[in-house]
Amino acid sequence: MCGIVAYIGKGQAYPVLLKGLKRLEYRGYDSAGVAIASGGQVQVFKKKGRVSELEEALTGREMEGHCGIGHTRWATHGEPSDINAHPHTSSDGKLAIVHNGIIENYSQLRQELLNKGHRFQSETDTEVLIHFVEEVRNNNRCSLEEALRIALRRVVGTYVIVILDGDHPDTLVAARKGSPLVIGIGNGAHFLASDASPIVEYTKEVVYVNDYEVAVVKADELILKNSSNEIQTPYVQKLDLELAAIEKEGFPHFMLKDIFEQPRTIFDCLRGRLDAAHAQLTLGGIRNHVEALKEADRIIIVACGTSWHAALTAEYMIEELCRIPVEVEYASEFRYRNPVIRKGDILLAISQSGETADTLVAIEGARQQGAIVLGICNVVGSSLSRLSHEGIYTHAGPEIGVASTKAFTAQLAVLAMFALKLARDKGSVEEGRFRELLTGLEGIPARVETLLEQNGKIAEIASRYRDSRDFLYLGRGYNFPVALEGALKLKEISYIHAEGYPAAEMKHGPIALVDENLPVVILATRDRFHEKIVSNIQEIKARKGKVIALVTEGDEIVPSMADETIRIPEADELLAPMLNVIPLQLLAYHIGVQKGLDVDKPRNLAKSVTVE
Ligand code: F6R
Repeated sequence: MCGIVAYIGKGQAYPVLLKGLKRLEYRGYDSAGVAIASGGQVQVFKKKGRVSELEEALTGREMEGHCGIGHTRWATHGEPSDINAHPHTSSDGKLAIVHNGIIENYSQLRQELLNKGHRFQSETDTEVLIHFVEEVRNNNRCSLEEALRIALRRVVGTYVIVILDGDHPDTLVAARKGSPLVIGIGNGAHFLASDASPIVEYTKEVVYVNDYEVAVVKADELILKNSSNEIQTPYVQKLDLELAAIEKEGFPHFMLKDIFEQPRTIFDCLRGRLDAAHAQLTLGGIRNHVEALKEADRIIIVACGTSWHAALTAEYMIEELCRIPVEVEYASEFRYRNPVIRKGDILLAISQSGETADTLVAIEGARQQGAIVLGICNVVGSSLSRLSHEGIYTHAGPEIGVASTKAFTAQLAVLAMFALKLARDKGSVEEGRFRELLTGLEGIPARVETLLEQNGKIAEIASRYRDSRDFLYLGRGYNFPVALEGALKLKEISYIHAEGYPAAEMKHGPIALVDENLPVVILATRDRFHEKIVSNIQEIKARKGKVIALVTEGDEIVPSMADETIRIPEADELLAPMLNVIPLQLLAYHIGVQKGLDVDKPRNLAKSVTVE
């Protein structure tokens, strides 16, 4: 949600900012802008629309300067427009700021500043913040760094901010609370960004700034201080990220690349953890909580969006294998509804980005009440990984497509391992079943590979249904969360209204929607509900609905009734979601592409929801 990039060094800032903004555009893309310090002046250029539109507008202009900040926006305060785009400047035009997050008490600060004679051009909280910093600096006659520290004591909300000062183009000042900020250490240069993607081609040495820290950054110096003004030793880490991982590598879209990477990402997730031949499962990331898990009376899982669908699948897995009650909660509801948490409760938090604001606040609250927080997360070094007591990384690699795909299947793989490991530790699963599932899980990457061969067929199916107004997705048991996820993917990518339902619920309402114009995607792979799902298909056909069925290879009954059939390799029902979701991702992708939509950057969405 909003991307920030900044550069200070011997080289020219603008090319670094522009490239960085393109890499960060998946975080927000309704406007973009840069500010560059040069000759005692701050030049600001900003524009509604995509980064490419900003680039076009700036083509041919002199963009000289060794210190600059850039921003790609996802609007919170004020509609997307040139004026509301970042960077914003102080009254005297000397300070420029980029900001990711929300200043919750901005209207109060705004009123105070208006009373003191400040005037604002935009509707944003960010412009208020930079005027406030300016006011504090002028009143206290102090440095920018000091002014920022004082100002932040009054600020309620979340932020990553980077400020540039035209009078001091040798220094950038930055701070964070609740949103990520990475600083890359180059040769006579520093790179600041919301994530490592704009940094990786320049350096692999990075520092993750902590909440409440202020960074004072020069070309060859980085000083970090905490809120009490004490110098902190920066913890320099090696970035485990290759440039290829954040490029399209021949795929027309990141989303398709992410989908096609799944055989490898699931394999990477299992690697070093699962050894089916020796019936071994190792999850080093939670080794210190084995006893607590075995004794847990219940497990609460919090997550949002696609990660919430993974959580729902985990509920089925853990209850079946471990016989521990599981409660799955939307993080946004959990954080506000005063939930009952007992000391020793296990709270599992699932998040691709590890930066989702609601999830982070939910786990903070649960920790304060004595819960043990275990994180399942994709982004190494993210806020979630730092707020959790222990956790498991999904190792799916950077997910650039805004809609989550490969992160979901990696989450399912981790959750299957988690449930199996806990079940074995507790002795709640028979050895034969444990081994069978381990072997099945190990075989998933190869089955995904086979499944992807149907990409062309799914594109054809997409062409027959892309003009539909609504879709229904139905599944039972382990396939119910997959139905929800399939519907979410379609909504996000194609803007077609879609609903996911437990198949048996159809008769309690949604069946009223069924007619010859309604495509119904039915997850009918072989499991304990198979006969019941066959009855559901008959009910839909009796009302002339169009059935797109996912069936296990070898099934000839369902294909004889369905309008479209997608064949899925054989898998245990507990593991089937990792396969079944893939054609649904592809269906959403192809419908979106065929409708001419930007599937990597769907409207109104942004990767990583860092505001509530
Ligand atoms: C769906 C999607 C979102 C995210 C949700 C949670 O395709 O991407 O629904 O799943 O915003 O994000 P994370 O997993 O980063 O916490």
